[in-house]
Amino acid sequence: MNKHPQDADNIHISLFDMVNALSTALDIINPALDSHQKRTCFIAASIARAADMRGEEYDDLFSAAILHDIGAIALWERLKLLEFEDVSPHLHSRLGALLLERFEPFRRFSPIVRCHHVHWEHGNNQMFDDQPVPLASHLVYLADRIEVLAQNSDNIIADATMIRERVASLSGEHFHPRFVDTFLEISVRESFWLDLVSHKMDDLLMEMAPFKTVSLNLDELARLARFYSLVIDSRSRFTATHSAGVATCGEVLARSCGMSALDTMKVRIAGYLHDLGKLGISNELIEKPGRLDDSELSKMKTHSYMTFEILSRIQGLEDIASWAASHHERLDGSGYPFHKHGDEIPLGARVLCVADVYTALTEDRPYRAGMGTTQAMAIIHDQVASGKLDADVVRVLDASLEEVDQARIAAQTREEEDLAGFWELAKQVPESPFQ
Ligand SMILES: [Fe+2]
Ligand SMILES: [Fe+2]
Ligand SMILES: [Fe+2]
Repeated sequence: MNKHPQDADNIHISLFDMVNALSTALDIINPALDSHQKRTCFIAASIARAADMRGEEYDDLFSAAILHDIGAIALWERLKLLEFEDVSPHLHSRLGALLLERFEPFRRFSPIVRCHHVHWEHGNNQMFDDQPVPLASHLVYLADRIEVLAQNSDNIIADATMIRERVASLSGEHFHPRFVDTFLEISVRESFWLDLVSHKMDDLLMEMAPFKTVSLNLDELARLARFYSLVIDSRSRFTATHSAGVATCGEVLARSCGMSALDTMKVRIAGYLHDLGKLGISNELIEKPGRLDDSELSKMKTHSYMTFEILSRIQGLEDIASWAASHHERLDGSGYPFHKHGDEIPLGARVLCVADVYTALTEDRPYRAGMGTTQAMAIIHDQVASGKLDADVVRVLDASLEEVDQARIAAQTREEEDLAGFWELAKQVPESPFQ
């Protein structure tokens, strides 16, 4: 990954911004979690710096901490954080590691996530799942528990004494004593606790982030976005490969519409990310097989706005954020959330709208088979006739239908295979609909 981007015909997105955006998206799944991962990361990184952890060890610790509960997406709705961490603490850790292994640059810190609930037990737990337990996982675990203890405090300085005593009492058993000692040193400062509850958490993390100067080029961004689509789609078995399908349909359509190579790639990335805001919608709604009632529909309609809120903060990602967030806009102004009309909807977004509708109609869902292309195209033509979808884009879809559909099926099959291990393990989630 480039440290000092120079070329102008590419895009350069901060890796920190992207990782932070994913962490934000995960933290909004359950408002009760309120920045749990970011605050855990702040605690872990503060202890690591004071303990003189450096280089790759620090980089991996930071990355693992900010995404440590990534495997809990499928569980958050069913069990509250504290419950699932008590009942089956290693399930979400293993699921998280499985997800992280799917993206090469994240693979190296996946063992830290897999082991982030392993107790120190006086040094006796050296192995977990037949693999060595990384030292950093003990730090993530300690930071995670401190964050949970601090979560509901409305007087953090007063509560700090209780938290310090509690942590000290578990030193050597649950927690690695070296990290406990460092925590006890730095947590005498009120500023440590006040930073933890302050509203400038993103700035604090930015300052501590090891990869703050690393930027992603278009290709690297696309690979990271594909990884995000795996995370988004792993939310629910019901739409398990949807984002990959939309990204691929969008890419083929954009190219066939004559969009530049850069814009075609942006459409693909926007496809991977378009439903990022769905991480904030409850599983109950996402997995409801029938029609949504009015109140459910209004909740569902917040997702593309949330996609916009998360992505629009990222410098350099403006087009992608706007196209991704506009995938439910319609040319006649009847869409949401901006009610954009006609020319207000850029070509990238129009392509994405068609790709989203086409993919949703033709992909298989666990409760029904996908529609055939003839039936799906009849519905899409109706939407052109009623002024909702772009006639030119749909004409291009008609002309390249076979290519689009083959590419969609291939992409969705690949994503299905990539997540196979995840779904197998997810069957163990209590009350899982994935059994
Ligand atoms: Fe956890
Ligand atoms: Fe956690
Ligand atoms: Fe959507």
